[in-house]
Amino acid sequence: MMFYRKLEADKEGRETILTLLPVIRGLEEELQKKTVDIVFSAWKASGVGKFEDLRFSRHTEYPLYLHILETVETGMMLLEYAKEHWKDEWTESIDESILLQALILHDIDKPIIVHRPETENGIAHGVLGAMMARDFGFDERVISLIACHSPKSPVRPGNAMMQILSYADLFSADHILLLDSRKGFFQ
Ligand SMILES: [Fe+2]
Repeated sequence: MMFYRKLEADKEGRETILTLLPVIRGLEEELQKKTVDIVFSAWKASGVGKFEDLRFSRHTEYPLYLHILETVETGMMLLEYAKEHWKDEWTESIDESILLQALILHDIDKPIIVHRPETENGIAHGVLGAMMARDFGFDERVISLIACHSPKSPVRPGNAMMQILSYADLFSADHILLLDSRKGFFQ
């Protein structure tokens, strides 16, 4: 099964992505381009016309890009707190750029998994995203964070960046699930 094709974003696509996900501008230039290209490739593979119409899940209309922004902003708040209050090895093990890339890209496979039902039993959420990140040449640590971030992942590496990503992701996800009268992860 072909899940996606590796594309380079056109000018219009790039502007749309950077307007809706301005957090990408926080990355250095080369990473910005790679990030826009991988987001563009996932969007085009979804078959959805407008970027803002990509959804968080099959069960809600909540836009995926808002969940991504919430996850990035919450994750960076947790990082700021840790840097201010915990001057220890836990905090020192965090690479700010790697964490930011993982926060932005953790759900990179969702446009495909959510909008193409035929992929449902084909590949696990996170695994496809990690394959895509590898294809685009992202750092091994970003790939691992994407691969294992889902609460359903059989492997959950206990490190500081994974903790921040998980708490930020589920903080936003539970808000969306509860708005929709569905059960959150936190019970
Ligand atoms: Fe997420």
